[in-house]
Order: sequence, then C-alpha cells, then structure tokens
Amino acid sequence: MTQDELKTLVGQAALAYVLPGSVVGVGTGSTVNKFIDALGTIKHQIKGAVSSSVASTERLQALGIAVFDAADVDELAVYIDGADEIDHAGYMIKGGGAALTREKIVAAQARQFVCIADASKLVTTLGAFPLPVEVVPMAVKRIAKQFAAMGGVATVRMKAGTPMVTDNGQHILDVRGLKITDPLGFEASVNNWPGVVTVGVFAFQKASLCLLATGAGVKTLIFPQSNLEADT
Ligand code: 5RP
Repeated sequence: MTQDELKTLVGQAALAYVLPGSVVGVGTGSTVNKFIDALGTIKHQIKGAVSSSVASTERLQALGIAVFDAADVDELAVYIDGADEIDHAGYMIKGGGAALTREKIVAAQARQFVCIADASKLVTTLGAFPLPVEVVPMAVKRIAKQFAAMGGVATVRMKAGTPMVTDNGQHILDVRGLKITDPLGFEASVNNWPGVVTVGVFAFQKASLCLLATGAGVKTLIFPQSNLEADT
C-alpha cells in the first residue's frame, strides 16, 4: 500500500471513535484530510466540529459540516489528529503543518485524543523530525540561542522567501538535532521560555490511543495516562 492509501485507511478507521450527535475535535494535515473526507459521509449523524486550523475549517465547511468556535463548546468527547512522530507512550511531535497551537488548545478540550498515523510515524525516541516551535517574532533569535545551548539547530520556517506566518500571526522555528528523552520535562521547560507560544512536543496532551496504519491493516495502540499527565 502507498502512504496515501495508508492515510485513507486510518482516516476511515477513525470514524469508529465519532459519537453520534456529538461535536468532534478535528486536527490538521494530510492524514486528517482523509478523516475529514470520511466524516463527510456521516455528516448527518454529527452536530459538527471544532477545528484546529483555517485549512481544516475550510475543508469541513466545503463538505457541509458545521464548524463551532472552540470557546462555544464546553468539552469534546474526542479529538482526532495526526502526528509527525509518536512514541510507544503516546507522546508526540506535532506542528509539521504549523497548526500546533490550535491543535494543543482543541486537544486540551477533549476527553480522548485519537492519533491517526501511518507506521512511519512510530519512533522509539522523539526528535528525528525537526521540532516545530511557534514563537513571537521578536524572541526568535534568543530562543534559537537557547536551543543551541541544548545542542539543537533552530531555523525559521520560510514560505515564498519570507518567514511563514501562522494562523495566529506568529513564526515557526524548526529545531534539528534534539533527542527528547523526557517529553514531559522538555515540554514543561520550553513552555517557560519567554516568547514561546507553543512547543510541538505533545506530552501533557498526549494521545490516548493511536490508530496506526500498517501494510497488514490498522493496529490500535492504547496508552495509559499517568497521574502527572491527568493533572493538567
Ligand atoms: C499539523 C500537524 C500534523 O498533524 C502533522 O504534521 C502530521 O501531518 P500529516 O498527516 O500531513 O503527516 O501537526 O500541524
């Protein structure tokens, strides 16, 4: 199977986690696009969605799915999103599509985070994928130096020759060369740096389960939550 076919498979499998009559939390990316397309086939069975990006909102609305503001929805039963990397505890790197801030916000509103990914995303240790960090532009240089002190090389993500601007009007640093062996500690620490809007390590908002598309079908990985994660 091609990677695109694996994404379609897992996007369709995620429908099993959508509760009839509910508002669904929807992530961003090429795998989620497959899920959105599948959601379109059962759109009359749901109330609508809370979306994590302008791109996903446009795709949902084009299919006739109502999109609600996150602030108007108390709690979501489920948030469904992809990942750039996921480890065997459900910790993830996200933000390859630059939507990490809204993704973390919507994920925090959900009782369950269902990660949908193809098997290439499963890793032992996070960090081979360049870590996206959304930052306030005036802090870019100093934050890059802080990553350099940890052995990381941070570069500003560019689009058409200028720094890419996120849905929130900020910039993205992509950090290479990190080995993230303590995702909870790493996320907590980088979150404290002035100018960091969101770090693309999802440890406090880790996956509850992962639907992993493999050549042999969809595997379900279930990740128990520790007390520390549950407290946040
Ligand atoms: C967007 C994300 C995506 O979930 C992540 O980049 C995976 O994308 P894809 O499904 O296209 O591989 O975090 O900010």
